Amino acid sequence: MADHPSERQLPHRRSFRFTQAITRRPAKSVSHGLREGAGPDPDAALFGEQHRAYVAALEKAGAEVVELPELEEFPDSVFVEDTTICIGDTAIVVRPGAPSRFGECEQICPTLKTRFTKVIDLPGDGFLDGGDVLLSDDTAFIGNSGRTNMAGLVALATLLKPLGYNPVQVNTPADILHFKTECGLLDERTIFATVKLASLGCFEGFRVIETPLGEEAAANIVRYNDVVFLSAGYPKSEALLREKGYDVVILDTSEAAKVDGGLSCMSLRF
Ligand code: GLY
Repeated sequence: MADHPSERQLPHRRSFRFTQAITRRPAKSVSHGLREGAGPDPDAALFGEQHRAYVAALEKAGAEVVELPELEEFPDSVFVEDTTICIGDTAIVVRPGAPSRFGECEQICPTLKTRFTKVIDLPGDGFLDGGDVLLSDDTAFIGNSGRTNMAGLVALATLLKPLGYNPVQVNTPADILHFKTECGLLDERTIFATVKLASLGCFEGFRVIETPLGEEAAANIVRYNDVVFLSAGYPKSEALLREKGYDVVILDTSEAAKVDGGLSCMSLRF
């Protein structure tokens, strides 16, 4: 794997050393999932197949996966990442910013209570989607976005400081749904990010590997233990990450992408 001198001073690697994950099977109603554009609906059966491959990849990477059943009343509920921020023995249940997703947190809470010692609600009345939060070992990048407002951002930042994170506020460009739509963690000091996001200057102090131009949708990666999940169809990104020493696992996310979802959105990792 790629190595960075500062890795040796950071014992935890809590940003990608995990043992567990929570996923939720896509419902048939995912064909009505939220999206910005007017593209085709996802095929629920194909989404189900791709999701099974995603869960299998998590298991192969070392995860014990809790697979929750589909929730037809919540078309976007496959994107569990938006409901919760997981840190050690603490789960912070957040407040997704899209009205059709408000009820998803209540649905995942009973499972969180079986896995985490502390399950706490985001204080206040702000909104925050988990897709707007990128955690390294010591830094929490929180994107202000169409889904995450300042009240939500500040409430999370306040909770994260005592947990050892330096919160960094990022103003996500208006045409990007979630902050992590265009970036992901490769290791505790390295971020894979689009040129557009990297040019904001928000990743100061981190090594940034820029997503090849034309492959911006590849930026939403997942690092789980020793492997990096990358969406299929981005050969330049695959070659670049392999050249940098990462063990890349390719997963087809064509159906999630039709409803603005990606690799990170489909699991909670802890
Ligand atoms: N379809 C994913 C979302 O908009 O939250």
